[in-house]
Amino acid sequence: MIDRQTVDRILDTANIVDVVSDFVTLRRAGANLKGLCPFHDDRTPSFMVSPSKNICKCFACGKGGTPVHFIMEHEQLTYPEALRYLAKKYNIEIKEREQTDEEKAEQSERESLFVVNEWANEWFQAQMNDTVDGRAIGLAYFRQRGFRDDIIKKFQLGFCPDKYDAQWQAAKAEGFNEDYILKTGLCIRNEQGKTYDRFRNRVIFPIHSISGKVVGFGGRVLDSRTKGVSIKYQNSPESSVYSKKRELYGLFQAKQAIVKNELCYLVEGYTDVMAMHQMGVENVVASSGTALTEQQIRAIHRFTENIVVIYDGDAAGIKASQRGIDMLLAEGMSVKLLLLPDGDDPDSFARKHTSQEYQQYLTEHQVDFIRFKTDLLLTEAQGDPIKLSRLVNNIVDSIAVIPDEITRTFYIKETSQMLAVEERIITSAVARVRKRQREERQKERERETRMQNQPANGPQQTGTTSEQAGTEAALTPEEEAAIAGTAPPTPEGEGSQPTANTTINITKGRRDGEKAILQAEALIIQMIVRYGEKVMCEVENDEGEMQPLTVVEFVDYSLNEDNLELRDPRHRQIMAEALEHFADEGFRADRYFENHPDIRIAELANELAHDPETLSRIHESGMPVKPEEQRLQEVVPHVMGDYKLAIVDEELQMLMRQLSDASVMASKEQSAALLKRYQELKQIQGSLGRERGDRVIT
Ligand code: CTP
Ligand code: MN
Repeated sequence: MIDRQTVDRILDTANIVDVVSDFVTLRRAGANLKGLCPFHDDRTPSFMVSPSKNICKCFACGKGGTPVHFIMEHEQLTYPEALRYLAKKYNIEIKEREQTDEEKAEQSERESLFVVNEWANEWFQAQMNDTVDGRAIGLAYFRQRGFRDDIIKKFQLGFCPDKYDAQWQAAKAEGFNEDYILKTGLCIRNEQGKTYDRFRNRVIFPIHSISGKVVGFGGRVLDSRTKGVSIKYQNSPESSVYSKKRELYGLFQAKQAIVKNELCYLVEGYTDVMAMHQMGVENVVASSGTALTEQQIRAIHRFTENIVVIYDGDAAGIKASQRGIDMLLAEGMSVKLLLLPDGDDPDSFARKHTSQEYQQYLTEHQVDFIRFKTDLLLTEAQGDPIKLSRLVNNIVDSIAVIPDEITRTFYIKETSQMLAVEERIITSAVARVRKRQREERQKERERETRMQNQPANGPQQTGTTSEQAGTEAALTPEEEAAIAGTAPPTPEGEGSQPTANTTINITKGRRDGEKAILQAEALIIQMIVRYGEKVMCEVENDEGEMQPLTVVEFVDYSLNEDNLELRDPRHRQIMAEALEHFADEGFRADRYFENHPDIRIAELANELAHDPETLSRIHESGMPVKPEEQRLQEVVPHVMGDYKLAIVDEELQMLMRQLSDASVMASKEQSAALLKRYQELKQIQGSLGRERGDRVIT
């Protein structure tokens, strides 16, 4: 943990021109500098560096940001790793945050396990390369399988001799604490108290973390047969440094290539990764035989959105992989799949082809998940309508988990074309599945809330459920319309349910208003980013004392007062983090958000913090021109008022559309209710408008 002051010093010191110049040749271009972008294949200099804003950005590929972001992206480091990199560059001494005893113990255990693993990794390699047995058995095994020496070296492969406790003895001779040796799982102590080597008589595949530390090992029996007691692969057990669910084999060796190619191949096994490197394909990782986990997907997503999953040609594995495909889609990844010919895995397939053939096969045979499923299941269906509808439903289920609306629409079109099913049928099927999923998640949350509340307070209603429900991505207008369009029509003039027709009109109105609301939201967030932690006024508390109120507290209060929730997820995140941190010592919202590890947040913050246009817009709105910061007490409520007005406007627009719809007005009850709401809104609009001019905070 780097302490806050050190972080601030690093951020203050790091100079964008300095930092970028280590990797890119820059030339002056007016007030800025420019060069060839290091993040894509750039022919004309598109990479701009702004010394005054201390940021960089590529106008072609969009990558860039603060010095920290540049280093994160260029060196593929995490946020804290990038901070350490910069600290080293500028000779800033890193002060670690005071850790609790527990944290210290855990930290030192993790560090010790890494040291033991690092040593073991060297030891395994030395056993293989520098001993007679190692060369005759271990090295010979890999060579026989067709691996070149440079690949064996690249993946730091090794060998553990067939002796009961050779490694245990060597580790103890090295002076390592027995406890730590056992915790890495390299050696095992049995009930009789005897200690032996887990990996004896196996070839060794070290497993690296993203930053290249050795977190564990996989060991394979030498025999090509796998019967008997020895399972083919033994892996390090779970420990404080290794979790099978989290690691992806090969990510460390692949990360640069993944970024460069904007694509990641996913395979099953250690040897598949190595074989692909040998074939010249380096952007590849392995899930190591387990079902793909969310953590693994996020790890890949850090580097690219595009993934190609490669399957061995056996049908069992493919059916089981359905969940994996849906998980990838749900994380917003663009997923393609590739089937190898019967019985081959990427490793065995490599033995039969030149690297050119191999790469050509990969590019020519990857297909999106719809074509993949269709190819796989269509022959099975053979014109059987029930099987065919099962296929459509299977595809619909996958489309439904995709978070992005445009992507969903694209796939719906494709499915419609491929299976010759009308587009609107698929659209409404997808909408129905999404609605069902939403309701299920909602129920799930309600269950959780009940469970959380029960033991302490007994069953009770809390606000949590409905608040959380609000953050759930709502159905898009089109989806609502699609559902409404297929729902049974309501009997004429009866009941208050809108007809299909009205629903569509309403949602159109909502979309017009949406833009204005998002703009107003952005202005609120601009206040948060610029002045979040600043005190804007004093308020009286319950005891009658005056207390300072910060901008973020005011905005939070004002939102809650009317039960409002920001619509843009980035806005919500900024608000939540500002609330969490505003009281931290030395916290400055502008610095915090402009240097945020999530580049999307940082970019938005940069834009909002430096955007002169919005600054002047507030100036022009009839207030005395004092620096904005001195007028927070006026400006912030003003911005909040505009936002609330935009929301009221939106609802009013919707109402107007409904009121002009003949079929709605045909129902007396319905039109009366609409008119009543219309008048209410007009009133609110009036009072909000009046308040805007002369609002005083008490
Ligand atoms: N695996 C494992 N434990 C096992 C079997 C498999 O951890 N008992 C993992 C390994 O990471 C392995 C991957 O699952 O690489 C895929 O298994 P499999 O296809 O059986 O092995 P291959 O990678 O093809 O290995 P090889 O070519 O050496 O047989
Ligand atoms: Mn294999």
